[in-house]
Amino acid sequence: MKNREVDQTITDALALPRLVRLSENLFAASFVLMKLLPARFILDRARDAALIGRGSTIIETTSGTFGLALAMISALRGYNLILVSDPAIDDALKRRLEDLGCRVEIVREPAPVGGYQRARLNRMAELQAEFPDHFWPSQYDNPHNPGAYAPLAELLLEAIGHIDVLVGTVGSGGSMCGTGEYLRTVHPDLKLFGVDTPGSVLFGQPDRKRMLRGLGNSLMPQNLDHSVFDEVHWVAAAEAFRATRLLHQRHALFQGGTSGAAYMVGDWCARRNPDEKVVLILPDEGYRYQDTIYDDEWLHSQDLWLPDPPREPHLVDHPHEAGDRWTRLQWERRSYEQVIGGSFIPAQQSSSFLAGSPSAGD
Ligand SMILES: Cc1ncc(COP(=O)(O)O)c(C=O)c1O
Repeated sequence: MKNREVDQTITDALALPRLVRLSENLFAASFVLMKLLPARFILDRARDAALIGRGSTIIETTSGTFGLALAMISALRGYNLILVSDPAIDDALKRRLEDLGCRVEIVREPAPVGGYQRARLNRMAELQAEFPDHFWPSQYDNPHNPGAYAPLAELLLEAIGHIDVLVGTVGSGGSMCGTGEYLRTVHPDLKLFGVDTPGSVLFGQPDRKRMLRGLGNSLMPQNLDHSVFDEVHWVAAAEAFRATRLLHQRHALFQGGTSGAAYMVGDWCARRNPDEKVVLILPDEGYRYQDTIYDDEWLHSQDLWLPDPPREPHLVDHPHEAGDRWTRLQWERRSYEQVIGGSFIPAQQSSSFLAGSPSAGD
């Protein structure tokens, strides 16, 4: 028997999600590592434009999944990857990045103003000066991040057809804005529900410390187009972690904490609207979180143990009314200024993705 021809790398093989049906009207796009899509698309475009080749230096600041995706591709293609992070990076991820050949720079001291985020940006600027020919992927501001999600939208259209509601988390905005805008070219009535967390500036809350990582942001990314969202939900860490465990216990889907946040919102939406097809984007798998979200002792020690998730969100009219619990706002495809009223403009991730200050976050 002839062997089937196999001509793909692991980063190609893992780029698209598994589609899973959770109930009559609830579907999940379950990724191992969603950030492979934008990392691959950004690096492919840079390669096509002759900006990078084997031996090129790539510099980015991240402590999360985008860094891991860049490191996997860099190992396969022979790029020198330098990631600037801070002490919040988990040891297992740092070891994995280093095993892939990546240089991980940890800034040890927060900057007097702007904390670790500013310190990371400062270190990144030094490295950019040291390696003048470097390439900076800049996931927060590079339009090739949302542009990378066409294959996901095509997969959903082909497998599920008409979708009523797409639910997903928002960090850079790339996955929700990119997938949603593509799907709306075919089905303009599609509703987009964005999932954020209290203390993130993305949808108008004042910045403060957050325990739920991966979604949310302290700076405003240019890739976030607020006017595509019909609803915004803020999910607190303990609620997201409980829902992550329920996703595993009920559906055997072993995913990370941001997937749990999306599941809580999507499950509520699907129960409330049994005639509507709801699709969830689940961004990463659970292995990184085994000693935290999947460890009851750790949850208790952090005061993040929640026996039951709330059944439904608290409805507010303005982001400043949202407390430290699951809350929703009918955003109704308005701009940031229309909702917030121009009273609170957070710092931008960068003024221009080519010339501005570097990106930060996860
Ligand atoms: C685990 C995880 N979930 C969700 C997100 C948010 O996705 P996006 O940046 O496309 O808005 C990220 C972003 O880094 C992430 O790492």
